Amino acid sequence: MTLYKGRIDAAPNELMDAMNKSLPVDIRFFPYDINTNRVWARELQRIGVFSQTELDNILIALDEILARYNAGEFTPLPSDEDIHTLTERLLTESLGNTGARIHTGRSRNDQVACDLYQYLMDNLKMLKSHLHQLISVLCSVATAHANTLLAGTTHLQPAQPITLGHFLMSLAFALQRDFQRADDAQKRVDRCPLGAGAIAGCGFAVDRKKIATELGFSNPTDNSIDSISDRDVAQETAFVCATILTHLSRYAEQFIIWSNPAFGYVKWDAQWSTGSSMMPQKRNPDAMELVRAKAARGLGNVTTLLCLTKGVPLSYAKDLQEDKEAVFDAIDTALLTIQVFSQALNSATFIPARMKAVLTSDMLATDLADALVEKGVPFRKAHERTAQFVTFLEDNHRDLLSATQTEMDTYFPEFKDTPLHLSYEGSLQRRRAIGGTAPVSVNAQIESLSSWLTSNSVC
Ligand code: ARG
Repeated sequence: MTLYKGRIDAAPNELMDAMNKSLPVDIRFFPYDINTNRVWARELQRIGVFSQTELDNILIALDEILARYNAGEFTPLPSDEDIHTLTERLLTESLGNTGARIHTGRSRNDQVACDLYQYLMDNLKMLKSHLHQLISVLCSVATAHANTLLAGTTHLQPAQPITLGHFLMSLAFALQRDFQRADDAQKRVDRCPLGAGAIAGCGFAVDRKKIATELGFSNPTDNSIDSISDRDVAQETAFVCATILTHLSRYAEQFIIWSNPAFGYVKWDAQWSTGSSMMPQKRNPDAMELVRAKAARGLGNVTTLLCLTKGVPLSYAKDLQEDKEAVFDAIDTALLTIQVFSQALNSATFIPARMKAVLTSDMLATDLADALVEKGVPFRKAHERTAQFVTFLEDNHRDLLSATQTEMDTYFPEFKDTPLHLSYEGSLQRRRAIGGTAPVSVNAQIESLSSWLTSNSVC
């Protein structure tokens, strides 16, 4: 089959062919393109283009083509430009003129959009399922560490005591929003572009609502020009992937810092670590380093996809063919990264003793200021007096819990009658308001997310 016979009378220049050919990339659409063909053939039969026998033959041929593909039993020809021309050629080879009628009323423009939308639907679902799995790992590790003290930092400087469970749940809630973003994106993908034609719509009396339903979409797209021109659903999916990857990148970085022996909070299972070809003592957190790096690809893919449609005149232009590599890579990268992160985390060993050893009692300074507030001191004054006390101790190479009773009495006479007992555990316990680090609050966070997981299972 020569696609452009009658108009383009020469084979493409080799370089043009190399640039124009998308089959090596869009071959991934194979099952979706078969699906698109099946539904289109049924519609053509309904409007009288095919007889019932012809339709039956087409459906059998499409099944055979798919089976051959699944068995790895066919070799594309050099002339197969893309997945759509390939399926049309295979169909025409097996059915002659019946196959040659399959492109009636259809364009590759609506065909590729239809394949893409089906692909995105499946993969957004897959993303949600992997996120679901990771959130549940986070909930279970957080449950085990709801009481494990950790030196919370801001600006990477000691801030306030928190728990490891609290820290892990912060990621779980971020990923819940990513899940919801994927779910929301799915609602916008849930429209069927098939039947939009090349630009102006289909010249035959097809029932686009029926086509949409048969392909598993809720509705057809509303405007044929928009249907074949826009790639916002691919851009949005890539954005969802980039947000997931950016979230994971930050936590990976934190875990990398924590696995440096100076912290020593976490040890990665050997399966997720690498050594050095030269330094025998090495145990490197490569899994997390790669998770950190994958965000760069994720961001690159969003940029590529947005740039691809910027300023391109309506409606279809070949620029749009370049969307596939970026959107496939966005999804592949996110799916792989979520799984690696999830499994590496699940098999990691956290070392509570190391986390506790790093706590410094100056991290209780806010608790001291809060206690003064409870004695009626305005917070700003309490902050200043506590800061002065911490500085005095620091000048003497000491920290808060080393203060003597006499020093306390001198600086803070408010506590003379009811001596103040500062402790890390006490500091946690104070923060029991919703979202806080008190174990009771962390357990409530785990519980609420766990019940959300149960009501949002992805099958
Ligand atoms: N392979 C093309 C793509 O991915 C299919 C659409 C081709 N349309 C066209 N008018 N040349 O965009």
